[in-house]
Amino acid sequence: MPTHTMRAVRLHEHGGPEVLRYDEVPIPEPEPGEVLVRVHAVGVNPPDRYLRDGLTRMPGETESTVGLPVIPGTDVSGVVEAVAADVDSLAVGDEVFGLLRFPSFDGRAYAEYVAAPASDLARKPAGIDHVHAAGAPMAGLTAWQFLIEVGHDRPSPFQAAMHRPTALGADTTVLINGAAGGVGHFALQLAKWKGARVVAVASGEHESFLGELGVDQFIDYTKSRPEELVHDVDLVLDTVGGPHSSRLLRTLKRGGAQFPVLPGDFDEEEVAKLGVTVSSAQVRSNGAQLAELGRLLDAGTVRVAIDSTFSLADARAAHERAARGHIQGKIVLTVA
Ligand SMILES: NC(=O)c1ccc[n+]([C@@H]2O[C@H](COP(=O)([O-])OP(=O)(O)OC[C@H]3O[C@@H](n4cnc5c(N)ncnc54)[C@H](OP(=O)(O)O)[C@@H]3O)[C@@H](O)[C@H]2O)c1
Repeated sequence: MPTHTMRAVRLHEHGGPEVLRYDEVPIPEPEPGEVLVRVHAVGVNPPDRYLRDGLTRMPGETESTVGLPVIPGTDVSGVVEAVAADVDSLAVGDEVFGLLRFPSFDGRAYAEYVAAPASDLARKPAGIDHVHAAGAPMAGLTAWQFLIEVGHDRPSPFQAAMHRPTALGADTTVLINGAAGGVGHFALQLAKWKGARVVAVASGEHESFLGELGVDQFIDYTKSRPEELVHDVDLVLDTVGGPHSSRLLRTLKRGGAQFPVLPGDFDEEEVAKLGVTVSSAQVRSNGAQLAELGRLLDAGTVRVAIDSTFSLADARAAHERAARGHIQGKIVLTVA
């Protein structure tokens, strides 16, 4: 008899990693515009934790699109199992990866199967496996949309002006704060791909990893302050944020820009006095951009570093790993 149920991780309540429950639930049906993906691997991202903790509305959403019980997760890599009648871009058997329905908390990726908007998916690069592909969507698209191309004209919840990437080339220097993390390690590789000089800020344990990825200068933030060592930078991409992130403004040359991936408070007077700009954005699902990033992954120009893997049933341990911080690349859940 065919089985109509699957295993999925669900939240029945908000709280710590212990509230992630391994359940048996119905296999979803793809809606119009969607395909059913048999999931091989799931990338773990900070919003999975925010939802688990109790945040149910993304910045910019007027109301929440999720209620308990909910399957968290946004990043998948897998194989198309079924296709809605109106989808002709993908076929059964295609290997795909994607960031699902973001910005919303309605990705439903921590599962053996997920119904996924076809437009959120791209073909998985043949040269990398599902674990590496699952690590790419959210962090890779965030780096892409901040540094290369926004890819949409939707208003930002963080600022009135449209975010505009800085043109990068051999005559530009980019400082990446939080360079070893999910977003940071993609951002530095995209900046290197564009020919820029890259200064990476991270804790000392990541020095050789970041050297292998081609950074030109490494600063261990536990020993030195970047703003005392680096000046005349064209662009700061800050994936760390927090109350002290405005000190990185002092590394910029006049006309430079700071892109906080985690939006924060900046003193407008200080920004104007330094002659710099501050601009943020919110990542959005985008299968077409993911296909472009996929070509770089296939060519080995950009690679996905895997911090650690856990089975889907052990999602709790994956979240406990994330809570310990100092992530190098991506945490990924594997699905049998
Ligand atoms: N705007 C958007 O649409 C968007 C999209 C994606 C992510 N985000 C946000 O961006 C942030 C980063 O996401 P992620 O997925 O890259 O996180 P992640 O994988 O956890 O990486 C964070 C990195 O920051 C490093 N770090 C921590 N404290 C630091 C400090 N004081 N100075 C320098 N580095 C430090 C950590 O390692 P070490 O301390 O060992 O160096 C780690 O490698 C999250 O807050 C997330 O919510 C926003």
